[in-house]
Amino acid sequence: MTALKGKHIVLGITGGIAAYKSAILARLFVKAGAEVQVVMTPAAREFITPVTMSALTDKPVITEFFTANTGEWHSHVDIGLWADAMVIAPATASTIAKMAHGVADNMLVTTYLSAKAPVFIAPAMDLDMFAHPSTTANLKTLAGYGNHIIEPAAGELASHLIGKGRMEEPEVIFSVIERFFGDTAELAGKHVLITAGPTYEKIDPVRFIGNYSTGKMGIALADAAAARGADVTVVAGPVDVKPTHPRVKVVKVESARQMLEKCEDLFDETSIAIFAAAVADYAPAEYADTKIKREHTQVPTLRLIKNPDIAKTLSSKKHPGQLTIGFALETDNEKVNAAEKLASKNLDLIVLNSLRDAGAGFGTDTNKVTILSPAGIIADTPLKSKREVAADIINAILKYDPFTH
Ligand code: C5P
Repeated sequence: MTALKGKHIVLGITGGIAAYKSAILARLFVKAGAEVQVVMTPAAREFITPVTMSALTDKPVITEFFTANTGEWHSHVDIGLWADAMVIAPATASTIAKMAHGVADNMLVTTYLSAKAPVFIAPAMDLDMFAHPSTTANLKTLAGYGNHIIEPAAGELASHLIGKGRMEEPEVIFSVIERFFGDTAELAGKHVLITAGPTYEKIDPVRFIGNYSTGKMGIALADAAAARGADVTVVAGPVDVKPTHPRVKVVKVESARQMLEKCEDLFDETSIAIFAAAVADYAPAEYADTKIKREHTQVPTLRLIKNPDIAKTLSSKKHPGQLTIGFALETDNEKVNAAEKLASKNLDLIVLNSLRDAGAGFGTDTNKVTILSPAGIIADTPLKSKREVAADIINAILKYDPFTH
């Protein structure tokens, strides 16, 4: 049984090369048990035929307000109300502009304006069109109305130019919608704070001390917590990965001190804090305002000072009901070291990654973890994707009741 079984999805298709991918998306929805009603703009028919789409969805495709030969009226209001979700993929710059400004000159935009259901928009266009301030402003307007924007990916475009504007792959769009319906509410109303990624400690305007953390684990945890109903804020160092869940907010910082400051601002209203960042242990004692030159008479010495321990600082201020969870990346005597860290940082749980396990740790897409409470091991995962491990960690947190341990 999938989260999409029996759901009514209006799939809006507009006139872009990526329209051929809508066939795959429709197929994924149908295979997951959803009913799909395709609404195409007139321009979309130049890119993919209504015959293909109606064969895949078992429903006539709607483009016009009337069927020409019978005079049958297609009610955009009825379709809008029938929908459990409306997905516009691909969404061209023109349709995005019309949606943002209520220019209801076709069936797709009128249906959008009548829809009560959540709306997902997957833009697809050339990089310059996507980067144009009018597109940016229109997407911001649409996001402000509560629509979910599925950001395009960067890659080769139909124009053969390389850049951002390529419609996200059908599988990704599908999983965003599937997850939306698969959400549960165990953490509804709760704020979850997550630190993620590396920190950069500035040496001079062009150099820093950093590490190879990518932030994948922290972002996966953020999506997993949001899927359980939480409102999540990720305080992230310099990372490229982005969350896909609309309830996740990312606050970008650079140094450990900035990370601590942001976390301190948010900690009071936080129910669960997960410290997944690879915080640099040391920062340069002095920052050189200008680039340190090579033509020094002596090789410069970098004097370091200790960074604040964010997990420890915040966990020492914990009030009853707040849970803090840390990570331990160990190479030897793993469980003993992790248990010591749990106690010394006043954490409720600690997630142990062993660097001895191939496929676990920095930069990989997979992980394998052991979760410890003060009473000992409470969960162990085999090697799996960071997304699956994230869901397991959130499950373990949900099951953990500190008063019974
Ligand atoms: O002491 P160690 O760096 O191994 O501890 C790892 C845990 O502590 C992780 O949860 C990490 O995010 C957190 N940490 C922190 N601030 C630091 C160092 C580590 O929050 N300065």
